[in-house]
Amino acid sequence: MRLPTTAAAAIAALAATANAFDLQQLQQPLQSILKSQENKQHQKQQPNIVFILTDDQDLQLDSLSYMPLLQKHLQREGTFYENHFVPTALCCPARVTLWTGRYAHNTNVTNVKPPYGGYPKFVEQGFNSNFLPIWLQSAGYNTYYTGKLFNSHTVENYHSPHVAGFNGSDFLLDPFTYSYLNSVYQRNHHEPTSYAGRHTTDVITEKALGLLDDGIAGVESAGRPFFVGIAPVAPHANMNPSDPPLKMTEPIPAERHKHLFKGVKVPRKPHFNPDTPSGVNWIASLPQQDEATVDQNDHFYRQRLRALQGVDELVDQVVTRLDDAGVLDNTYIIYTSDNGYHIGQHRLPPGKECGFDEDIRVPLFIRGPGIPKGRVEKAVTAHVDLAPTVLHLAGAAQRDDFDGIPVPLPNGRKQVYNREIIESHKRHEHANVEFWGIAIPEGEGNSFGPNNPAVVENNTYKGLRLHSPESGYDLYYSVWCNNAHELYDLTKDPYQLHNIYPSSSSIHRYLLGASIDQVINRLDALLLVLKSCRGHTCHAPWSVLHPKGDVETLKDALDSKFDYFYEEQVKIEYDRCEGGYIVDAEGPQVGYQYLTERDGLGWSHWE
Ligand SMILES: *[C@@H]1O[C@H](CO)[C@@H](O)[C@H](O)[C@H]1NC(C)=O
Ligand SMILES: *[C@@H]1O[C@H](CO)[C@@H](O)[C@H](O)[C@H]1NC(C)=O
Ligand SMILES: *[C@@H]1O[C@H](CO)[C@@H](O)[C@H](O)[C@H]1NC(C)=O
Repeated sequence: MRLPTTAAAAIAALAATANAFDLQQLQQPLQSILKSQENKQHQKQQPNIVFILTDDQDLQLDSLSYMPLLQKHLQREGTFYENHFVPTALCCPARVTLWTGRYAHNTNVTNVKPPYGGYPKFVEQGFNSNFLPIWLQSAGYNTYYTGKLFNSHTVENYHSPHVAGFNGSDFLLDPFTYSYLNSVYQRNHHEPTSYAGRHTTDVITEKALGLLDDGIAGVESAGRPFFVGIAPVAPHANMNPSDPPLKMTEPIPAERHKHLFKGVKVPRKPHFNPDTPSGVNWIASLPQQDEATVDQNDHFYRQRLRALQGVDELVDQVVTRLDDAGVLDNTYIIYTSDNGYHIGQHRLPPGKECGFDEDIRVPLFIRGPGIPKGRVEKAVTAHVDLAPTVLHLAGAAQRDDFDGIPVPLPNGRKQVYNREIIESHKRHEHANVEFWGIAIPEGEGNSFGPNNPAVVENNTYKGLRLHSPESGYDLYYSVWCNNAHELYDLTKDPYQLHNIYPSSSSIHRYLLGASIDQVINRLDALLLVLKSCRGHTCHAPWSVLHPKGDVETLKDALDSKFDYFYEEQVKIEYDRCEGGYIVDAEGPQVGYQYLTERDGLGWSHWE
């Protein structure tokens, strides 16, 4: 390594005055001088980016409390985004959204396998030549990835075609992706390699550190920054193809973590296995879980926490490696999970795929140059915002096909957008939710109850999460493909136990100072825009309904002068249930715009 001249001179001067004993003591300060010199140089460069993505990690079930190293390196040293949402609570759609910056309705990768999803669908839709690592390479980055990229990326199809966009890669491949002790990884263009007998999180940690070294070498030799994606499978359920039939069993921790957390149980919140059914549609018909099932699910929960310990150590080792190389101060680290998870809430067996907060809210941390330490960001952010965030941190331009916008980065890289629309609008208060297909119970022997099918079909719905601490509302509204409706007021009902969507037995008449029907008319119209939004209409949806730009929030829209407009607005209504994004099953696609105030009748068809 060539030393910067001033640092070399400093060492020479210090060494000249030091005797042998002192030299030992001087090692530390000298290292720091060197490190800070190097950091100053790197600061002038584009920052490095490390993106750690866990699989099925919850926010709501308290997993973060059991990750002390994550707390130390990311929570205390970075910003926690406490209102971060996943649009589609299923691995593959969520991951394609992450790496393209588009909602599933704009990628049409809506499931984990063909015809509606998986790696082949990602390729078919043209994204293998149009996604984040490719854009980052164009922006001057060396790009690396290890772990799970997408579902249905297999030992059979990994080379037809190879994943594009990475200078170095080491992917987990199906059907071995979720086999904690029998995993298969596939490096660059080499043949897949079995790691049977080793714990997958230890394997990925080794691989991640190797890729970091490659990235660091590129910074030192060519001044090229790096992006490293690290996607361990923990705490996803284990699936071992050598033990057919393929089933989703408890996660398997490393030997050294097996003994931890004895006696820990799923948090017993009011919605845990409640005495009366909750939710609508198939969820309302779930039987209460018996004691043996609850015990087994508590064990499943502990196995998740134990499996996450390997990830906690991975975070520590990544930070240490960056620090040792002197690049930590010029590196952003982003940590999140593809989707959330529920265990026992609303009587649900372990799993995801639902619209409740357990499934759609996930951890998000960002640390790096200028990012406030120990801060909690309250703005609503979502997975569609993360590709825009990464490009923004890289100093690259936003793309017109992005459905999201960079997350707030106070004191971080100066916010520069190339779209006037974003500058002229307040940051939005909504998260868009959408799902197509089935719901699956996870954990050996788990089911939706003796009278329900093994797998629930027609788990297709649109949802809207609206959160504004400023205006005092916190809502979830959804419409299912059988036209069941749901509305929760989370300010009064944080566990989403009381559906206040009006029915004959409903006693709720007012919400936010308006009649509940008037509120629902607004929510329905907003969801009508969001369910087929594209680009800026996804983050400024009210501007579609109110093109004059005078309405930016639910509060604005609740002005009574708009009552008639919203009463007459086109309503969301499915024609039928489908397992994928079949447009003609999804009812009306366009509604009316509010143009003039005369008699409140000034609406015209949008588009
Ligand atoms: C990484 O790939 C990009 C795009 O092919 C290329 O321009 C760059 O030189 C590569 N970096 C290294 C270290 O090979
Ligand atoms: C799913 O929905 C389709 C179309 O709406 C319907 O024909 C079918 O019976 C439903 N299946 C179940 C299991 O409810
Ligand atoms: C999404 O993909 C499915 C399966 O290929 C196809 O039938 C459907 O028409 C596509 N939807 C859209 C909106 O392109």
